[in-house]
Amino acid sequence: MTPPPTSGAPRRHVAVCAFPFATHAAPVLLLTRRIASAAPDVRFTFFNTDKSNAVLFKSAGGGSVPDNIVPHGVHDGVPEGYEFSGSPVEPVGLFLKAGEESLRKSIEEAEEQVGMKISCLVTDAFLWFCQKIAAEKGAPWVPVWTGGASSLASHLHTDLFRSKFGVQDEGLQGRDNEAADMIPGFSAVRVGDLPAGIVTGDLRSPFSQMLHEMAFRLPKAAAVAINSFEGLDPDITRCLSAKLRNFLNVGPFALMSPPPATKSDKHGCLPWLESQAPASVTYVSFGSVATPPPDMLVGLAEALEASKVAFLWSMNDNAQAKLPKGFVERTGGRGKVVPWAPQLALLAHPSVAAFVTHGGWNSILESIVSGVPMICLPFFGDQILNRRFIECVWRIGIGVEGEVFMKTGMLNALKKVMVGSEEGKKMRENLRVLKQLAQEAVKADGSSTQNFSSLMEIITAGKES
Ligand SMILES: *[C@@H]1O[C@H](CO)[C@@H](O)[C@H](O)[C@H]1NC(C)=O
Repeated sequence: MTPPPTSGAPRRHVAVCAFPFATHAAPVLLLTRRIASAAPDVRFTFFNTDKSNAVLFKSAGGGSVPDNIVPHGVHDGVPEGYEFSGSPVEPVGLFLKAGEESLRKSIEEAEEQVGMKISCLVTDAFLWFCQKIAAEKGAPWVPVWTGGASSLASHLHTDLFRSKFGVQDEGLQGRDNEAADMIPGFSAVRVGDLPAGIVTGDLRSPFSQMLHEMAFRLPKAAAVAINSFEGLDPDITRCLSAKLRNFLNVGPFALMSPPPATKSDKHGCLPWLESQAPASVTYVSFGSVATPPPDMLVGLAEALEASKVAFLWSMNDNAQAKLPKGFVERTGGRGKVVPWAPQLALLAHPSVAAFVTHGGWNSILESIVSGVPMICLPFFGDQILNRRFIECVWRIGIGVEGEVFMKTGMLNALKKVMVGSEEGKKMRENLRVLKQLAQEAVKADGSSTQNFSSLMEIITAGKES
């Protein structure tokens, strides 16, 4: 029999494993904060590369992370003296190759330091090999999917899509527009919308193989948590609930586990919005990591210049350097370009009328809870599928595609979403309904709150249910 813990020692030790690329780790930390605040007697070790943890814990505002979440470094998988070829997916491949071994090692270190074995592994769903580690420890595996229900459903049905459409090394050869409606909630989806790694893309890449392996492992998880709410995708939720044990909608995190209020607005976005007319400004952002392809960026800039609308464009310096010459000066009276903006606060501001986005999942949810229609310019991953849902399923925005027609496409889209147009009105009405569903989901008796309690129980009890 083990003696009862001395006072101050944690009751349990939970591992949280993040995927250190793109915007994956931030929502996982948000969820962990909420869980850790509700379970102060449980220690959460947050496994992630030092590089990603440094950014994450700094932007979280240091002291505002509960004491029972402790970051722990994981090797990034880059061999010593390694020379990068410059491909953006290379670091991902290296991390995944070494991932299982690196995590095992880091987990052992942390168990040693804390003097307590891990009783549950909460991980980014991408880290499928954590299913093996959890099984060896007899601990539940609780993957977190940071995208939407539709992309998760797509990956879980990879083999079904492959049996229908084949595996297309050479692209879809004109089949892009064929219906991919074999699963619930997908009546508007076409095969060209499916994320790469299912029937298109380099299926032998480490990333594609990771996704396929993940789809195979997820049904073995004790629970699968997702940053969404049931009312957004009811049919897909039913389908996933049948395929997975404890499929749990515990979002939107922007309402359920809001980031600590930041006063940071160092580029003066909010005062600038104050000076603008209500519902007049188009907010443009492609997230903190993605830089749009140069043609897209230029087409968009030309459209904003020609449209005469007021806009606030948040883009990193890298992207700013690719703007047409003199753009900032010529549009200075009604446009503002900043390297960073407090997105959620901006979207909530009454002056903002529309959001031009790449269609990343976090941005979509933030737009929904703020009731702002979107113009979606997807680049890759799940963004193309998200765009389809925005335009054809939820009808809360429009997609713009094709770099050649970017300028005209954007000008049309701006006309449609701005206040005053019939289509824009309908979108705002649809948004109002979704926003209300989101708000209900996070109430004390709401579905996301209920599902969060189930998640808490599984994670802190640390037993297979
Ligand atoms: C998740 O929430 C839904 C809606 O309230 C509920 O039907 C379902 O039983 C919940 N699942 C779990 C495991 O809590």
